[in-house]
Amino acid sequence: MIPHEYIEELTRRTDIVELVGSYVQLKRKGRLYGGLCPFHSEKTPSFYVYPDTQSFYCFGCQAAGDAISFVKKINNISSGEAIKMLASRAGMPEPQEDDKTGRLRSRVLSMNKEAARFFHACLNSTVEEARQARAYWRRRGLDDKTIVRFGLGYAPNDGQALYQYLRDKGYNQQELDASGLFKRSPSGRIYCLFWKRVMTPIFDLRGNIIAFGGRVMDDSKPKYVNSPETLVYHKSETVFAMQIAKRSASRRFVLCEGYMDVISMQQAGIDTAVCACGTALTPGQVRIISEYADEVILSYDSDEAGQKATLRSLELFRNSPVKVGVLQIPGAKDPDEYIKKYGPERFQALLDGVGNALDFRLKRLRDQYDLSQDAQRLQYVKEAVEMLAERSNPTEQEVYAGRLAEETNISKTAILAQLGTAVKRAGGKYRREKNRELLRSGEMNQ
Ligand code: UTP
Ligand code: MN
Repeated sequence: MIPHEYIEELTRRTDIVELVGSYVQLKRKGRLYGGLCPFHSEKTPSFYVYPDTQSFYCFGCQAAGDAISFVKKINNISSGEAIKMLASRAGMPEPQEDDKTGRLRSRVLSMNKEAARFFHACLNSTVEEARQARAYWRRRGLDDKTIVRFGLGYAPNDGQALYQYLRDKGYNQQELDASGLFKRSPSGRIYCLFWKRVMTPIFDLRGNIIAFGGRVMDDSKPKYVNSPETLVYHKSETVFAMQIAKRSASRRFVLCEGYMDVISMQQAGIDTAVCACGTALTPGQVRIISEYADEVILSYDSDEAGQKATLRSLELFRNSPVKVGVLQIPGAKDPDEYIKKYGPERFQALLDGVGNALDFRLKRLRDQYDLSQDAQRLQYVKEAVEMLAERSNPTEQEVYAGRLAEETNISKTAILAQLGTAVKRAGGKYRREKNRELLRSGEMNQ
């Protein structure tokens, strides 16, 4: 594995404009550079390089990425080879983990495993606080099998206990510091980041424990404390429960917001349930999911924040080959609550009848209008038509125009005519502007 820091250094030392310029003739256009796309054949340039975000995008074939993915794609080589190529170009030594970092990394991993064992043993101990923690997981509907499968645990009230435990196992101070498990009080006392919290370990794809999330058992704040970034934990590149989902026979993934949703769904037999670590989905997480999934059902919370996150995630998946559906969860705030209230079978039925991204967007739009008012109805149709023009193919346009007509009592012919005009407009400048905005906003390149 190539160290994260190495890649960062490589990215700093590589200028994508210069790099792409050695393969493609680029012309400056304001803050961007354009040229003929090297990934598909074309006569007019639709390939752009964005110095601000150090990324590229082709409006013709949707090829997109950073310097590493460019080199990978254009030479048809693996990531490892692409990194080596860029490194020699940038005058960096071969990517090689120096022994010291490699050793510290594996010490941190084994420490995390010990810590998970410790938290799990604390959960099963006979003291009163452990009983409360077990009762908490039980209240959340989890059975023993799930608790063992996810390695769930409890971090005791005594913030020094884990520190002592790991010292006794022979971990030195430098290693303990690198684990991200401990903090120092102003008086210099070292204590565990997690205390009096139920614990969920976070695994990498190979099954190593790389971090923890700890939840309070009441309504106090913060609800979760999570491990910081360490040598082994890179939040933006981590997808919770991916080590399980990647082995599933199914390539239909369910992406939700929280650890608890994932664990409940997994207990209900949905072994492709995952969530992003960190607050918002990142392009790196989208890339990982796209490697194992053909379809992703977004199952975010039904509150406004969850719906906004859905829209944001739809954009992130737009440039991936994965098909995206959106699950609406009626009568519950999230999948976990739904399963608890209505049972796993009904949840599975919801999943089976999931709507596509366009359904989700149109419904969201419709909810903003009172369709019994003429002016609002017209406005709704206008907006819906623009959305369809921009985001659907001719067959979908036919179907949705019919639905819109029924909904609004406006003739399908009139709607299709309006759609025709909008499609022409969207084909040109409009769509390009939109896509450019998206790339500029940095969402593609976090
Ligand atoms: P939620 O508040 O939806 O959490 O936050 P949840 O997992 O459903 O938890 P329950 O059901 O209340 O027990 C979604 C995710 O956001 C992150 C966590 O990863 C959580 O799973 N989060 C939330 C934090 O990191 N810190 C917080 O304080 C809250
Ligand atoms: Mn929840």
